[in-house]
Amino acid sequence: MIRFGLIGVGGIGSYHRASIERLEKAGKGRLIAVAEPSPLPEQKTALEALGIRWYSDYRSLLDEETELDAVTIATPIPFHYEMASACIHRGLWVNLEKPPVPLVQQLRSLVAADTERRVSVGFQYIGSTCMQELKRRIVAGDFGRIQEIHAGGCWPRLDGYYNRSPWAGRMIRDGNPIFDGPATNALAHLVHNVMFLAGATESDFDVPSEVEGEMYRARPIESYDTACLRGKFGRSGIRFALAVTHATEQCLPFRIDVRGSKGWARLGNDGATLETNLGPGLNRPETTQELLDRNYDAFVDVLRGDRDHFETRLQDTLGYVSATNGMLLSSGGIHDISRAHIRHYTKEEQTGFSVAFLHEAVKHTLLNGKLFSEQGIPWATAKPRPVRLAELTHLLLDGDLTARTDAHPVQVAA
Ligand SMILES: NC(=O)c1ccc[n+]([C@@H]2O[C@H](COP(=O)([O-])OP(=O)(O)OC[C@H]3O[C@@H](n4cnc5c(N)ncnc54)[C@H](O)[C@@H]3O)[C@@H](O)[C@H]2O)c1
Repeated sequence: MIRFGLIGVGGIGSYHRASIERLEKAGKGRLIAVAEPSPLPEQKTALEALGIRWYSDYRSLLDEETELDAVTIATPIPFHYEMASACIHRGLWVNLEKPPVPLVQQLRSLVAADTERRVSVGFQYIGSTCMQELKRRIVAGDFGRIQEIHAGGCWPRLDGYYNRSPWAGRMIRDGNPIFDGPATNALAHLVHNVMFLAGATESDFDVPSEVEGEMYRARPIESYDTACLRGKFGRSGIRFALAVTHATEQCLPFRIDVRGSKGWARLGNDGATLETNLGPGLNRPETTQELLDRNYDAFVDVLRGDRDHFETRLQDTLGYVSATNGMLLSSGGIHDISRAHIRHYTKEEQTGFSVAFLHEAVKHTLLNGKLFSEQGIPWATAKPRPVRLAELTHLLLDGDLTARTDAHPVQVAA
């Protein structure tokens, strides 16, 4: 019976609690303590009635709960680095929500500290039925040599999304990097899934050798709400391109197209369907809760010695983190979309931002791999330059909103 602690019980934390309860029913795990500075009174009462101890500061939980085996970190992005470091130093197994950390040097430092490979990262779509089947068929050679992976998604987000939390739409807060935005938060799955599909074996992920990217904002936020990214993987020669946004009125569920020398496959409908030109596909809608439950099953199996590794190990996220860091550098910062191309709309009594031609532009990237600035779109003013990721060992995000490596400072602020 694995004894869990949970840091952050609101938001996605409530799904983690449900997954741990499911493990408890199966006799595999038990929640013994939580850390949460802003509890809802009814949550606190309910947990305490179950004998689950409550801390307002995660450091007290780590100090006092000497019987813990594992901790789930389901807190906002700016806390991940500090909390994951503390849990690793306590020798605990860690289930860290995605995205692991914003910056490449933070990831490298955590991977170096995690010598016993005890950290799993919760990119739950990796375990979905369609994704696993697609990867199996790629590795089996069904599609021949993989040449291109294109991906895209429009997930509209209204005011409530940006107002729900003080870290939403921010690049940095109280000195902690955040890098919030579609490619680095809600649709970070898409970037990470591409790294998975390009990996050489059924469980490997790859890291691109080079990327180019463009980042834009339609909303008046510190961070970005629209991005595209293109790159190649040095070893396999696979090329990839993707585009994501929160600034359309119309949704485009995420989709990944894989093209090989012998055939193609399409993961569609936010990963729920798989089509190919080589026979029958799959239709397996799975809820976030089901995917999280599967991720916990894999986590527990690793702890019990029944499985070799997590669905996503910490080091498997190097492709995602370095590609998104490279995207910011390549883009030369975040570019404002001119107001002339933005329409406001109202839905559920909230305002949304919709950028002209953007829905079509994301579909173009899916079809032909073109970045926004190559599609003749009037607002797409970025001039991306190639960034070699082997040389990108760190990206500093300063309080004055400058992102820089030693050689290349770029201004993030408008
Ligand atoms: N896997 C997914 O599909 C998925 C979905 C949503 C969110 N997420 C990720 O989960 C993480 C949390 O996102 P969210 O939207 O639930 O955030 P949130 O802002 O709702 O915060 C989650 C909880 O953490 C608590 N918290 C804040 N600071 C804390 C601290 N110092 N110590 C302990 N608890 C603290 C908050 O009070 C809240 O209860 C992010 O990394 C996000 O990207 C993942």
